[in-house]
Amino acid sequence: NKGKYEHYMQKEIHEQPESLTTTMRGRLIRGGSCKVKTVLLGGLKDHIKTIRRSRRIVFIGCGTSYNAALAARPIIEELSGVPVTMEIASDLVDRQGPIYREDTAVFVSQSGETADTLLALEYALENGALCVGITNTVGSAIARKTHCGIHINAGCEIGVASTKAYTSQIVVMAMLALAIGDDAISSQTRREAIIDGLIDLPNKVREVLKLDQEMKDLAKLLMAEQSLLVFGRGYNFATALEGALKVKEVSLMHSEGMLAGEMKHGPLALVDENLPIIVIATRDACFSKQQSVIQQLHARKGRLIVMCSKGDAASVCAGGSCRVIEVPQVEDCLQPVVNIVPLQLLAYHLTVLRGHNVDQPRNLAKSVTTQ
Ligand code: F6R
Repeated sequence: NKGKYEHYMQKEIHEQPESLTTTMRGRLIRGGSCKVKTVLLGGLKDHIKTIRRSRRIVFIGCGTSYNAALAARPIIEELSGVPVTMEIASDLVDRQGPIYREDTAVFVSQSGETADTLLALEYALENGALCVGITNTVGSAIARKTHCGIHINAGCEIGVASTKAYTSQIVVMAMLALAIGDDAISSQTRREAIIDGLIDLPNKVREVLKLDQEMKDLAKLLMAEQSLLVFGRGYNFATALEGALKVKEVSLMHSEGMLAGEMKHGPLALVDENLPIIVIATRDACFSKQQSVIQQLHARKGRLIVMCSKGDAASVCAGGSCRVIEVPQVEDCLQPVVNIVPLQLLAYHLTVLRGHNVDQPRNLAKSVTTQ
C-alpha cells in the first residue's frame, strides 16, 4: 500500500524517520540512575567478546549494502581498534581471497537472499570465520546460515532501489561499533555523543526531508544531462558511491561516485563548465580538504553543486558560483544517514521527470538470487 505516495520508492524515502526509530527500538539504553548509556544487540550477546578479540572484521555485501558497510567502517575502526576490510561479495569469491578463523565476517544484505553474498558466506564458513548477518528479512538464508546477527527492522522494502534499508543498515552498524568498542573513560564522551545523535537522528532526517521541493527543482535543472559526478571522502565516500548508484539505477543517467582524494589522479580531466558535479562538504575532519577540492574545481570552471552543513552556504562557495544543498549537521559518523536523503530525493525526481519506471528499473530485480 503506497498510501498518499505515488511510488514505493518515494514512500520508503519519506518513511525513514519511522524506519530508523524502529531499527533503534529497545536497543539504546538511555540514562538510568548512573547515567550509563549502552547499546543492547540481543542477537549478538554471546559473540560480542569474540568479535572484539578478532584479528580483523571483514564486511561483505553487494551494491547498496556494501555502501552501507563502507559508511560504517570508520566508526567501527575508531571505537573497536580492530582493522576493518571491505569485500564486494562476488570479488571475494572470484579471488578466493584470504579469510581466516580469527576473522569476523559480517554479511550485509537487505533481502538476505543475494546469491553472491550467500556464496561468500559459504566460503567464509568453510574457512572457519565467525559469520555475522545484518539483514532486513527474518528467516532469510543469510539470517539462517550465519552464526549470529542483527535484524535491521526497517520494514518491508518494495522499491527495487534500496533507500530506507540503507539508512537503517548504517544505524545498525553504528550500534555495532558501540557494542564492540571498549568503554574506556577516554571514549565515554564520544560514545555518549553518538548515542545522543542516534536518538535524535529521526528528527534530523525529518528535517532534511523538507528539501524535497528543492531536490525536485535541482532535478529539473539536471534532467537532460548525460552524466553526474559525486565527490565525497571520509565518512561520506560511501554517500558519493550510494548517491551515484541511486541516480544511475533508477533515473538511468550515468553517474559515478568518486573519492575526492583521488580527484587529481584522473577524474579532474573530465571537469569542464558543462559536467555537473556534486561535492559533499559537510562539517567533519575532512572539511578543509573538501574546501580545497571545491577551489580546484572552481579554478577549472566546474559546474558545482555543494552539499554543506546548515549555515555554511556562503563560505563553501567563496570566490565562485555554485548551487548549495544545506543539510542539518549531526555527529560525524552519522552524517551519511542525513546526507544520502537529498540524493535519494534527487534520484527519485530525476526518474519521474525522465519518465522511467521508479519502482522497477529496467533489467533489475529486488532480490538478485542468480550469479
Ligand atoms: C541498489 C540495490 C542493490 C542491492 C544489492 C544487494 O539500490 O538495491 O544494489 O543493494 O543487490 O542486495 P541485498 O542487500 O538484498 O543483498
